[in-house]
Amino acid sequence: MTDSRANFKVFKLLKIIFSSFLVAALLLFTVASIRTFTLDVNVGLQTAHWEKTNNISLVIDHHQRKELLENFKKAVRIPTVSFSPTESNTTALLDFERLLRKVFPTVFSSTLVHHELVANYSHLFWVPGSQPDLVPYLLLAHIDVVPASESDGWEAPPFSAQEIDGFIYGRGTLDDKGPVMGILQALEYLLIKGYAPRRGFYIGLGHDEEIHGHNGAVNIVHVLKQRGVRLSFVLDEGLAILDGIISGLEGPAALIGVSEKGMANVKLSVSVKPGHSSMPPSETSIGILAAAVKRLEDNPMPRFFGYGPERETFEHLAHKFRLPMKFIMSNLWLFSSLLGRVMERKPDSNAFVRTTTAVTMFNAGVKVNVIPSLAEAYVNLRIHPAHSLQEVLDLIQSTVGDQRVKIELVYGFDPLPVSSADEKSFGFQIIKKTVLDMFPTVAVAPGICIGNTDSRHFKDLTSDIYRFSPVWFKPGDLQRFHGINERISKKNYEDLVAFYFSLIQNSDIQKLPEPHSSLHEL
Ligand SMILES: *[C@@H]1O[C@H](CO)[C@@H](O)[C@H](O)[C@H]1NC(C)=O
Ligand SMILES: *[C@@H]1O[C@H](CO)[C@@H](O)[C@H](O)[C@H]1NC(C)=O
Ligand SMILES: *[C@@H]1O[C@H](CO)[C@@H](O)[C@H](O)[C@H]1NC(C)=O
Ligand SMILES: [Zn+2]
Repeated sequence: MTDSRANFKVFKLLKIIFSSFLVAALLLFTVASIRTFTLDVNVGLQTAHWEKTNNISLVIDHHQRKELLENFKKAVRIPTVSFSPTESNTTALLDFERLLRKVFPTVFSSTLVHHELVANYSHLFWVPGSQPDLVPYLLLAHIDVVPASESDGWEAPPFSAQEIDGFIYGRGTLDDKGPVMGILQALEYLLIKGYAPRRGFYIGLGHDEEIHGHNGAVNIVHVLKQRGVRLSFVLDEGLAILDGIISGLEGPAALIGVSEKGMANVKLSVSVKPGHSSMPPSETSIGILAAAVKRLEDNPMPRFFGYGPERETFEHLAHKFRLPMKFIMSNLWLFSSLLGRVMERKPDSNAFVRTTTAVTMFNAGVKVNVIPSLAEAYVNLRIHPAHSLQEVLDLIQSTVGDQRVKIELVYGFDPLPVSSADEKSFGFQIIKKTVLDMFPTVAVAPGICIGNTDSRHFKDLTSDIYRFSPVWFKPGDLQRFHGINERISKKNYEDLVAFYFSLIQNSDIQKLPEPHSSLHEL
């Protein structure tokens, strides 16, 4: 995932609200109190009767454990680095293909599985189901990784896959070779055990996600569109299981990404007549542009906390907080503006509150005694789901408010549509059930990704895109994403294989069970 760290660090600030005068005042709101104790949206379909399709169980014996870890380590050792938007290690990408063919012989030889290369280095697998009327789904992951250098302070070389204290270290262990290898390893074992799906599914492995996926994911989508494919849902990387990271929350939470922020790279430029610095005009191009970017920093985009999927995150998790946080979370209709004001004080939680504005480049001037004719600045904005790209561009225009500053969109896209997360949402409920079967004490909630993933290219093929893998994050782990000492525990990788093994079979149900009625009786 690109730019992912901030996704998780969210909620730490919320505890600040725990001020006694506030709580006393708020307790007056009876309606609010009732909501606090009845709104348990996490119950969902857990108690309903599910059709049993998870018929093949995975018992990992000593031999398999060794084998699956060895396969994973081999994958980590291949440096499939995306260096820059135009430069990838294509040798490594070819090596990676060879590895997949070697360690997953059943996947590549089974008559049930159709494999093709896309854009030379990406992979698309199609496993048709025995019941063609069941709409297929797609599991997505990416092969490429961001660069890593041992000299940055790694405890083990970043492409060594060395084991330290039960963890495998290496670039890609979290992002995103766990799912890449976990999905195919699960399919390999399922096929060996004679599994044939009822519901067909695709597996897409992109090779350039870290540089926007314009070759890999985009061409996979192109191939599927040409074939007229519609997808029930897409499951990609993104969020994870957070354990001890959300302050005040009792127990771990699995956040399933239902949207991603949009993005805009905007170029601001000012052109004036060049001249000698001995006879300067009252304003230079640098002065005009500097004032413009300062206005953008001084006037942040509007606060939108509570108007995007972050609202549902809190409502789903409310019952796992202690009072008074439980009370506040259950009543965002009343408190979202207050919470937004608290969250905007820190950059990591501010990212959930609004469209963020970051002035990232400023270029002007060539010589100390020449009035520069051109000054340019670049601004990177991450667009809140309640905002659109066009609205953001309009706001930049009015905030800058100076005709001399030319404003151009270099690259951008809208926030991703919000996928469904209710009791009728097939993909969400399948993922949730699979998580809860494995980890019964985890709270499952929808969440939002601050960074972007390959799955955003799939929005024309399905309305339901989920961003999640069951990777466990504990305090301190978020910095490992795109950082040093990226690692995953051996147990966690095994769990990934088991998760996809189970998810594929769970997806074979004809339809979701009817929701349990107890919620409606309240
Ligand atoms: C799983 O087993 C149940 C009962 O044992 C059977 O009714 C069902 O058809 C099986 N499902 C699949 C997908 O094989
Ligand atoms: C590219 O990957 C190959 C292995 O597949 C490796 O030998 C080579 O050093 C890598 N190149 C760079 C520039 O990292
Ligand atoms: C795939 O490889 C061929 C031949 O080397 C090359 O012409 C083509 O541009 C490549 N396509 C992509 C998408 O990289
Ligand atoms: Zn990734």
